[in-house]
Amino acid sequence: QGALTVLGLESSCDDTAAAVLRRHGDGRIEILAEAVVGQNSAHAPFGGVVPEIAARAHAERMDGLAAGVLKEAGLTPFDLDGVAATAGPGLIGGVMAALMTAKGISLGADLPLLAVNHLEGHALSPRLTQSLAFPYLLLLVSGGHTQLVIVEGVGRMTRLGSTLDDAAGEAFDKTAKVMGLGFPGGPAVERYAQDAEAPDRFPLPLMLARDTSCNFSFAGLKTAARRHWDGLDAPDDRDRADLAASMQAAIARHLAQRAGRAMEIFKTRFETLDAPLPLVAAGGVASNTAVRAALEAEAQRHGFALIAPPLKYCTDNAAMIALAGVERLALGLTNGLDAPARPRWPL
Ligand code: KG4
Ligand code: ZN
Repeated sequence: QGALTVLGLESSCDDTAAAVLRRHGDGRIEILAEAVVGQNSAHAPFGGVVPEIAARAHAERMDGLAAGVLKEAGLTPFDLDGVAATAGPGLIGGVMAALMTAKGISLGADLPLLAVNHLEGHALSPRLTQSLAFPYLLLLVSGGHTQLVIVEGVGRMTRLGSTLDDAAGEAFDKTAKVMGLGFPGGPAVERYAQDAEAPDRFPLPLMLARDTSCNFSFAGLKTAARRHWDGLDAPDDRDRADLAASMQAAIARHLAQRAGRAMEIFKTRFETLDAPLPLVAAGGVASNTAVRAALEAEAQRHGFALIAPPLKYCTDNAAMIALAGVERLALGLTNGLDAPARPRWPL
């Protein structure tokens, strides 16, 4: 098989992104151009992503971003072998922006359309920058998703567990909101936690401590944190720092504990593989230093090595969508122009 070049588009949450990626005949991946535009300042006054604002911003920017990366790569749509877009899961108004643009280009340049599951994009993201063989265990922890997945190949993913309530990123964001730290909350919580003088001052429970599944739950943590906060009179930055540190540690502990269960399952299923086995951590929350340290320690305990994609591929981007698209194209898994935008689409 020769080289394949694909345009990838992403707009399922609050980042508008486009990328041109080439998969060489030997399987090597080259990112020819990429762009991401965030919307944090548009949503910050509301303390969370507002779907209507997101949809409008995506619609305004998508065409321009797509044209921009093609120009930067020195290509026109007629030089492409396919066009990929996130078709879900995500905010429907946002998903439509990338998918409609991709359909337009597909029709105009007579290119195969690749309707990509956003989660599959995240799952493949470590392969953008390193040659990582299948199978591997994936912990996806973002603002919208918290899942443990066995990744055996494109279209071959098994979900071991997911969150029963909030996503890990939401647990960070909502705690930050309670303490008035601004949006997005995760980075703010991490910043405050660095200054904690008494990081153990606010006890928080280990969630699902006796549950034997690989599921997650954060609602109880959020409630406990809020109760601590409400119990303070005239809280100051010292209180913020201590509670941020307690919350961050509790989330990290929970993520590591659940990942530990999944590692045991993975080990049993692939008992002939040599140690260390691969544990990939992707999603915005995986960039948190305390979370990474907890996962690193847990991985080591179970005979795994933690692999984290570079930060810009941990969070939402279009290169991962182009990669999922080009792998699908290579397998002949293309879609018709009737491919729907899907708000829900489990792996
Ligand atoms: O993967 P991502 O950029 O977008 C989604 O697909 O959701 O993840 C965003 C989430 C937000 O909830 C944000 O607060 C969280 O990741 N996050 C962090 C950190 N950086 C981003 N959480 C904790 N610590 C961080 N340093
Ligand atoms: Zn995402």
